[in-house]
Formats: sequence, C-alpha cells, structure tokens
Amino acid sequence: MARVSTLSGTRVPAGPRENAVVGIPSLAGASFSNRIVRWQESHGRNSLPWQNTRDPYRVWLSEIMLQQTQVATVLDYYTRFLQRFPAVADLAAAEPDEVLGLWSGLGYYSRARNLHRCAQDVVRLHGGEFPRTAALLQTLPGIGPSTAAAIASFCFSERVAILDGNVKRVLTRVTAFAGDLSSSAQERALWEVATSLLPRRNLAEAMPRYTQGVMDLGATICTTRQPSCLLCPVQGMCRGLAGGAPEIYPVKTRKLKRSAQSLSLLWAEKADGSVWLERRPSPGIWGGLYCFPVFSSEDALLDMLPMPWRARLTAVQPFVHVLTHKDLRLSPMVLALSAREAKSKGLPGEGAWFSPAEWQGLGLPAPIRRLLEQRLG
Ligand code: ADE
Repeated sequence: MARVSTLSGTRVPAGPRENAVVGIPSLAGASFSNRIVRWQESHGRNSLPWQNTRDPYRVWLSEIMLQQTQVATVLDYYTRFLQRFPAVADLAAAEPDEVLGLWSGLGYYSRARNLHRCAQDVVRLHGGEFPRTAALLQTLPGIGPSTAAAIASFCFSERVAILDGNVKRVLTRVTAFAGDLSSSAQERALWEVATSLLPRRNLAEAMPRYTQGVMDLGATICTTRQPSCLLCPVQGMCRGLAGGAPEIYPVKTRKLKRSAQSLSLLWAEKADGSVWLERRPSPGIWGGLYCFPVFSSEDALLDMLPMPWRARLTAVQPFVHVLTHKDLRLSPMVLALSAREAKSKGLPGEGAWFSPAEWQGLGLPAPIRRLLEQRLG
C-alpha cells in the first residue's frame, strides 16, 4: 500500500530514503533517473527545433516561449524569431515594438518584454554570452528557477532540478507527495525531492536527457486526467499508482481566483481599411500592445465621441476572451469614417491610423488581431 494516509494532516514529503514501502521498488539510487533517461531516448520527443543544440540562446528562447504555451503553438513563432534574430545581439538591438510584433498572438506579453530586456542584459552585463549556471541565469529578467535549471541542464549539463507544472505532476505522483503545493514550504520540499532524484553519473549526457524526459513524461503519459500508467516507464515504482489514485496528485488547495471584466472597444476604420489604434499603458492588460481604444462601458465610449458619430456606431457580437486570472467580455463597436472625418479631431486618446500592412507588423492582443484578420477575410 502506498502511504496515501499521509494525505491527512501535515506530512513529511516522501524522499528517496523513505521508500521502504512493501512491494514498491525504491526510487532511491539511479533506478528512477535511469528509467527516465532510457525512456526519453526511445519514446521521448527528440526532434523539436530547439533540441540537439546546446546553444543557450536557442534553448532559452524556446523555454521562454514554452512557458504556459503548447509546443504546437510555439513552433512557428520560434522559427520566425530565429530567422529575424539569429543571435542574442540581434534581439538586444531590436526595437521593442518589433519584438512585441513578432510575439503577438503568443500571449503573456510580459514574457516578450522580459525576453528583450534579458537579451540586452546578456549583451551589456555578460559580454553577449549567457551565464553557465542556473544560479546566475536566474538573475536575468524573465528567468525563474525552473527555466534557469532547464537551460543549465540542457546546455551545460548542470545537476539542477526543473519543477514546472508537468514535472510537479510527475514527481508528486511517483513519490505520493501529498503536501499542499499552495504552501511555499511544501513547494520547497518538492524541489528537494526533485533534486534527490536527479541522475548522479554520466551527467554530461544524462542531465539533458533526464530533464527532457521528465518534461516529456508529464506532457504525454502522466497527464492531468486519465494518465497512461500502463505505458509509463516508472509505473512499477509509482507510489501514487500503488495507492490506486495517481490523479489526486499534485495537491493544491488554494484555487486561482478568477474575476470577470466587461470592456467596450472602439473600432474606428476608414474606407481604405486603416484602423485607429493606441498603445496600451504598461503595466496593465495588454500593456505595451496596440489596441482599439478601450472603455469600461458602452456609455463611457459614447461619452468620448462627437454626437453625430454616436448614432453611426454598429455593435459587433460581444465575446469572451479568457486570460489567466480573468474573463474579459469584449464588446466592439464599429465606427466607419470617411477620410475627411478621420482627419477631424474626433477620436479619443493618443492613437494613430494604421493601414493593414502596418497593423499586421504591430504587437496586437490576440482577440484584436483575430477581429481585424476576420475583417480582411
Ligand atoms: N516545455 C518546456 N520546455 C520544454 C521542452 N524543452 N520541450 C518540450 N516541452 C517543453
């Protein structure tokens, strides 16, 4: 029996030395990491464009893009970024708007702003070379402990543990770690478990393979719902499976509080297809991106317009756009203007007119880009 009884009350996280559970092979020693490494070779993902390189620029770029984003979505963006910015110095020298433009659609735009700052710091503070340890990598903008460990283990074979969402799931299940990960003390305890399970020998080859292996296992086998335990290389030592319900891990009691907000958008356009966009303040929703003028209500939008224009507004079907912490209910209102009207001082804010060729190269929030592209057909 696995120690699921530890689910109630406080618990000491299961470390490799506590693995004397009858009938379950020990996680200690090399057997766990060996199995992951061997499985990764034969069943893991081995031909993604950011693999088979130890160039930290390429690996870092992929790891930042892959935060909260699926591999399939990242592929095109990754290729485009590398074509435009083949080296970290090219990215550092770019205009922020161009970086946001290329990032547009990937979401979580603070990642793009930090990406640019990080490239600049690598050039300015580190002579254009990424630091070679996780501890130093973490000092750079946008690189947290797990991303730093991923880069350091992939590129420099450092013996450091990653702990992203997928890996938390794998490790809490395999060790039946029942601590509540809403607690930072429990999260720290899980880092220790993760570190204790790392390979100990042949690190040059084993570390990159192991790191990719735990990621791959979490993404493809040890999934949130209905994990494919029969195909898992560590099923025989999985204490979560032995307890009969691996899905109960990881334990996290504090749920993300979601909120909702309604916004009205003024979609002013001219007959030549140009649209009126303004830059969003940063920080804030869509900070730094170009967007239709945003209002807290339809009344607030109407208040900003000259009277004759108000009656000409046409409503587009409102829709919900889901952000991490918030559901946005967006209500666009279209205002078609002639060239002469557009020259008059009727539009609110600090915006400007952008032709389709121009707005396509700007950083736009994903729902705004979608609306504009649908209009273009
Ligand atoms: N998610 C985060 N890093 C990854 C990687 N290197 N490969 C696949 N998915 C990932």
